Amino acid sequence: MKLLQRFAFVLLVFAPLGLLAQQSGDAAMKIFIDGLMKKMTIDEKLGQLNLPGAGDITTGQASSSDIAKKFAQGKVGGLFNIKSVAKIKEVQKLAVEKSRLKIPLLFGMDVIHGYQTVFPIPLGLSCNWDMKAIEQSARIAATEASADGICWTFSPMVDISRDPRWGRISEGNGEDAYLGSEIAKAMVRGYQGDNLSENNTIMACVKHYALYGAAEAGRDYNTTDMSRVRMFNEYLPPYKAAVDAGVGTVMASFNEVDGLPASANKWLMTDVLRKQWGFKGFVVTDYTGINEMIDHGLGDLQAVSAKALNAGVDMDMVGEGFLTTLKKSLQEGKVTQRQIDNACRSILEAKYKLGLFLDPYRYCDEKRAATEVFTDANRKVARKIAAESFVLLKNQGNLLPLQKSGTIALIGPLADATENMTGTWSVAADLSKSISVMAGLKDAVGGNAKILYAKGSNLSEDSLLEERATMFGKTLHRDNRSGPALLQEALAVANQSDVIVAALGESAEMSGESSSRTNIEIPQIQKELLQALLKTGKPVVLVLFTGRPLALKWENENVPAILNVWFGGSEAGSAIADVIFGDVNPSGKLSTTFPQNVGQVPIFYNHKNTGRPLGDGKWFQKFRSNYLDVSNDPLYPFGYGLSYTHFDYGDIKLNRSSLKGNQTLNASITVTNSGSKDGKETVQLYIRDVVGSTTRPVKELKGFQKIELKAGETKTVTFKITPADLKFYNYDLKYDWEPGEFVIMIGGNSRDIKSAKINWTK
Ligand code: NOJ
Repeated sequence: MKLLQRFAFVLLVFAPLGLLAQQSGDAAMKIFIDGLMKKMTIDEKLGQLNLPGAGDITTGQASSSDIAKKFAQGKVGGLFNIKSVAKIKEVQKLAVEKSRLKIPLLFGMDVIHGYQTVFPIPLGLSCNWDMKAIEQSARIAATEASADGICWTFSPMVDISRDPRWGRISEGNGEDAYLGSEIAKAMVRGYQGDNLSENNTIMACVKHYALYGAAEAGRDYNTTDMSRVRMFNEYLPPYKAAVDAGVGTVMASFNEVDGLPASANKWLMTDVLRKQWGFKGFVVTDYTGINEMIDHGLGDLQAVSAKALNAGVDMDMVGEGFLTTLKKSLQEGKVTQRQIDNACRSILEAKYKLGLFLDPYRYCDEKRAATEVFTDANRKVARKIAAESFVLLKNQGNLLPLQKSGTIALIGPLADATENMTGTWSVAADLSKSISVMAGLKDAVGGNAKILYAKGSNLSEDSLLEERATMFGKTLHRDNRSGPALLQEALAVANQSDVIVAALGESAEMSGESSSRTNIEIPQIQKELLQALLKTGKPVVLVLFTGRPLALKWENENVPAILNVWFGGSEAGSAIADVIFGDVNPSGKLSTTFPQNVGQVPIFYNHKNTGRPLGDGKWFQKFRSNYLDVSNDPLYPFGYGLSYTHFDYGDIKLNRSSLKGNQTLNASITVTNSGSKDGKETVQLYIRDVVGSTTRPVKELKGFQKIELKAGETKTVTFKITPADLKFYNYDLKYDWEPGEFVIMIGGNSRDIKSAKINWTK
C-alpha cells in the first residue's frame, strides 16, 4: 500500500478509535481495542474467533467464493493455508472494505521447516544441534512467508516423542526436553524476531499443546495418559520454553490429557498455560479439534464448543462450533460474555501487534514476493544447514567420503525422487524445484566421474501402501516393470561401477500426520535390493531417507557405510553430494534413539534405573529388567553421530568436587581432533542426580556446545553448572533442586561419556 493510501486508511477507519497512539505500547493497544470492542456486536466478536481454511479460493475468485459472504459479515477472524500476495490481498480487501468494522484478517500457514526454501524436516534439523543455524532457518522461513502474505505460522511443533511408530515424530525435535526447549526458543526467536510488527517477522504458534507425541501405540490422534511428574519433567518443558520466549499463540492438541481432550482441558489451557506460565497470547484449536470432541464422547457441538471456551480456547480452527453455537450458550448461561470478550480481545491484540490495524496489507508486497523468496542466498544457507543435519551412522574402513572419479552407481527409489526431497509438511514448496540426489551428485562430479542410475525397486511391493505414502504430489513415479526386471537392471548398472550409492528408505509421506507404522524397517523389497547390491562385492553406501528412527539392525551389521539424510529440504541433493564427497564433514547427532527393533519401543536415553537394573556390560540376567531376545541397548544412542575425523576426549576436570548453595561448578574437558580432517563436534553434558525424593533418570542432557576443530587441534570445553541445572519437579510438582551426590558426564553422545562425581549441599 502506498504511503498516502496507508495514511488515508488509518485516518478514515481508525483515527476515531484512538489508533494514532498505536506505537506507544500496551496502554495504547488497550485503548484502541477497548474502543473497537465497544462497537462490536456479539456476532462480530464470535466472528473473530472463527478460523476457516482457505478451501478452494483461487486468484481473482475470492469475492465469489462461498466464504466471501462471511468476510463481509465479519464472521471470520483469519484464514489459513492460502498462498500468494495476490490472493491474500484480495481476501484482505474484502475484510477491510466490505465488513462493517473493517477488521483485518490474520493469514496463517503451516510454515513448518521453511517456506519455498525448504530446510530439513524438523527431526533432521534438530540433529544439527546448532541453535544459531536453527534460528536462522526460522528467520528465513519468516522472511519468505511474510513476503508472500503470511503473518502467522503453525510452528514450532515441539512435541516430545519416544515412539518411532508415530508418523509425526518427523515434525518434532526428538526425545529430549532440554534439547527440545532450546530448539523451541530458537525457532520462536527466528520467526518473531524482536518486533512482530516488522513486515518480515511472523507470529509463531507452538503446538501441539500438550503431549501429542505420547499417543498410545504410536497411533496418531490416540489417547495419552501419563503422570504429572513425567509431564512436567519430560514433556511440557519445550512448550513452556516457547512461552518464555514470547510465542504469540498456542495450538491445542487433538489428544486427551487426563481424560479430557486438550481443547476442553481447563487445567492445561488456563491453570498451567496462563496462570502458571503467564502466557499472554491466544489459543487456537487444531483442525476441527472442537467438533472432534463429539466423537471423544463429550456431547453435541454446542456442549463441546462451550467446554472449549470455558477451558480457555480462543479460536476455533475450521469447525465453526464457536461461530454457530456460542451465542445460544451465552443466552443459556453456559458461557459468559466476559469469556467471549477475552477470547476476542486476545485475537485483536495479535492483529494489533502484527501491525495489521496500521496497514492490513503490511505483508502483501509484490516486490518482496518477487525478490525475497527462494533466493540463491536462502538456498545456500539451506544447503549448509541440511548437510550439517545429516547423521553418519556407520563408516567402516572410511568408505566415505567418495572420490569424484570413476563410475558411481546410483540406485534406489529415492535416488531420482525430486518431489520427495522436502519431506512432509512443505505446503508452500514448489516440489519440482528440489534437488534430487541424482542432480546433486551429477552437479558435484561434473565431468570427473560417471554416474549411472537405476531405480532398482519401487518403494514397496504394495502399490496401495505406495499410494498412501506419496500423497500431496510427492510421487515416486511407480515403475510398472516387474520386481526382477528392476533388480536386474540395477545389478547391471552396479556391475559396471566402482562403488554403489543406494538411496533407500521411506518416502516423504511415509511419516508425518496420519502416517504411523507398526513396522519400522526399510520396506522389504528395498532390503532385498540392498542385499543383492551387497552381493556384487562392490562397496555400498546406504543413503538413508527417513522421517523417523528406523530399525536397522541388519543394515548396521552388513552395510559398510550408512548416511542418514532424513528429508533434507529443497537443497537435499546438493547437501548429500557435499557430504558424500567430503566437501562437508558430517556433524549431525541423533536427537532420538534408534532401537534395535520395534519391540524395544519406547526406548530413550533418559530412562529410570528401576529397582532391578541390568549389571554393567550384561545383556541378560534372570530377574533383571531386560528382554530374553534382545539386549537393552539401542542400535544408535541419543546424541550419536560419526564424523570423517575422530574426536578424543580427555578426562573431566572440575574446579571443585564439593559445592554449597549457589556456587558454580566449572566442568571442563579437552577435545582433540585426532584425525586428518577439520570437523565439528557437539560436546554433550549429562547429569545424574544419584539420590532424590522421587526416582531420577539415569542421566539427563543439561548442556551442549557445537565446536569446530581443525585437524590436530585441541580445545577445552567448559560447562558452567549452577543449582538451576539440577532442578526438577518433585512429587508435589514443586520445581527445586535437592542436595546430594551428582554424576557429571561429558561426551560425544549419551553412551560414550567420561564421568566425575560431586557433592552439592544446600
Ligand atoms: C492439523 C495438524 O495437526 C496441525 O499441525 C496443522 O497446523 C493443522 N492441521 C493446520 O493445517
